[in-house]
Amino acid sequence: MNNKKFYVTTPIYYPSAKLHIGHAYTTIAADVINRYKKQKGYDTFYLTGTDEHGQKIETIANEKGIEPKKYVDSIVKDIKEVWKSLDIQYDRFIRTTDEDHISAVQGIFSKMLENEDIYLSKYSGLYCKSDEAYYTETQANGNKCPDCGKELELIEEESYFFKCSKYVDRLMEFYEQNPNFLEPNSRLKELINNFIKPGLEDLAVSRTSFKWGIPVKENPNHVIYVWMDALSNYITALGYGSEDASKLEEFWPANVQLLGKEIIRFHAIYWPMFLMALDLPLPTNMFAHGWLLMENDKMSKSKGNVIYPDFLIKNYGADTVRYYLLREVPFGSDGQFTPTSYINRINNDLVNDLSNLLNRTISMINKYNGGTISYNEFTNENYSEMDKVFNENYTKFEKQMENLNFSKALESLWKIVSFTNKMIDLEEPWVLAKEEANKERLDKILWTLVNNLTKIAYLVKPFMPTTSKGIFNNLQIEDKDVLEDVRSVIIDTYNVSSNPTILYQRLEKDKEIEKISNKMKEDVVKSKESLNVPRGTITIDEFDKVDLKVAEVLDSYKHPKADKLLIFKVKTNNEEKQIVSSLAEFYDPNDLIGKKLLIVDNLKAIKIRGEESNGMILTTEEKDEVKVIELECSIKAKIK
Ligand code: MSP
Repeated sequence: MNNKKFYVTTPIYYPSAKLHIGHAYTTIAADVINRYKKQKGYDTFYLTGTDEHGQKIETIANEKGIEPKKYVDSIVKDIKEVWKSLDIQYDRFIRTTDEDHISAVQGIFSKMLENEDIYLSKYSGLYCKSDEAYYTETQANGNKCPDCGKELELIEEESYFFKCSKYVDRLMEFYEQNPNFLEPNSRLKELINNFIKPGLEDLAVSRTSFKWGIPVKENPNHVIYVWMDALSNYITALGYGSEDASKLEEFWPANVQLLGKEIIRFHAIYWPMFLMALDLPLPTNMFAHGWLLMENDKMSKSKGNVIYPDFLIKNYGADTVRYYLLREVPFGSDGQFTPTSYINRINNDLVNDLSNLLNRTISMINKYNGGTISYNEFTNENYSEMDKVFNENYTKFEKQMENLNFSKALESLWKIVSFTNKMIDLEEPWVLAKEEANKERLDKILWTLVNNLTKIAYLVKPFMPTTSKGIFNNLQIEDKDVLEDVRSVIIDTYNVSSNPTILYQRLEKDKEIEKISNKMKEDVVKSKESLNVPRGTITIDEFDKVDLKVAEVLDSYKHPKADKLLIFKVKTNNEEKQIVSSLAEFYDPNDLIGKKLLIVDNLKAIKIRGEESNGMILTTEEKDEVKVIELECSIKAKIK
């Protein structure tokens, strides 16, 4: 039996909006560490999934006029697609609407009731609907949520409570004995100062004000608090509370639980207390990473500052997203996504360094050695230096991977890549090839290059599985799933591809940066368009700010840089202007010339793929068919 076990979890995602790369960040990191451990010979379990209950989801579904389950089903499908396209290899995708999870959570609640960890009482306090969390007056920022800044509501309801008071001392003791339980360490101090020291109140763990949740078996008017429901997934996914708890025995406690910094309170305070109440060991380590920011603001759909992974994957490949996120942002700190740094990383690290190394090596083996190269003993000072660089950086890489310091690990790995490239310049194989007397030395350099590339392919594999496969395919060698020490790789003879493929092509920097920037602007427009504004909250004065007008289409043609967009020249009662709209799928531009359409006239002008757009054409959508709203009046008509 393999004693090397590894269990890693991500938070489970709210299926409330399309996933952006901020969400993908945690999932990619977990996938990389899981693949790394697998490569080291561990039996691993990687858990991710969706957190589907709660008032927020119920409200969205109600607004859409569909059952919550139907709504979440549709989003979960998209989430799974995103993970697939990012090459995420999870062992279970848990949904909190899964039958086994529901009955296990009911069992957890019953056990806590029985043991008097939970009691029934009344709750009155400040509640954040968006984060589904209560805050005390001291924690609240005025009347605003300290986590997301939204308005808090005063709520009073009958509720079950979890007795935090019973476990708080044990928790503090645990923190003391396990100072690395929560990383980065500074976060634990913050947590103790902000939440535990001021006095931790018992936690309300049921709700009666809405229905979309797991009912308390003993009192079905109550649904179980969404955070108790969600956190339990980390054990229910392994079979806790079911007939088959073998996976739980095998993998619990988790080795690493990854999470974003805004949900530390639930993971590092309440979750350990729930586990204590269930008499289960606590996770070994929790790592709270920072946020991926856009212009220094947390990426979020409601702020309209997002970039979605699908666009980047389609245009540049999943591996570039995986590599960029983990290379660019030190895990634990906040970081920025910028189109410039993304394209630079591809051109510098992946094209110049990695792809070039592969192609130079293969073409030299083909040119000077007919595609075959075997190990030989020749040695000189450059090889000793190469070994030194390799060993030093490999040791650092291993340590940094263990510490989840992905950006530093990749930095160390790239030192190996760079030095391998440098070997070519130092040894000048094209000069050696001119003299038969240099054959031994030339063979040695070619073999060293290709054997180093093999080691590099193993090291990049957890980060960039497709790229790694590309290297193995070009070198025409088998890739082992388990390899504990990359230094041991010695392949006696290589027969490399005579027709190598290019891993990464150089990108036209300015063009690609503009392409991504435009896409981000387009998405901002779209996400603003589809923002969920709660019903009944827009005043007449606010609505009055929107200037609706009749506009006559003077000209319409395809956007030169985007297949889905049309450019319209329109005339309103007081001006002529240009609007860009994504209608190319639904209309031939000529068919719209002369039509009178309903538009929003006073939007702030933006550039969409280099073309100014000064307003918005209103449309209807039915069964995926989009239609403009045509009017039978003059452009002077007033919209009331
Ligand atoms: N459903 C809860 C988690 C329950 S776990 C028992 C939740 N879901 S979430 O969808 O809002 O967030 C999931 C994860 O994505 C969190 O770790 C969160 O920090 C992370 N991110 C969301 N936006 C992010 C960025 N812009 N940057 C980095 N991570 C981000 O919280």
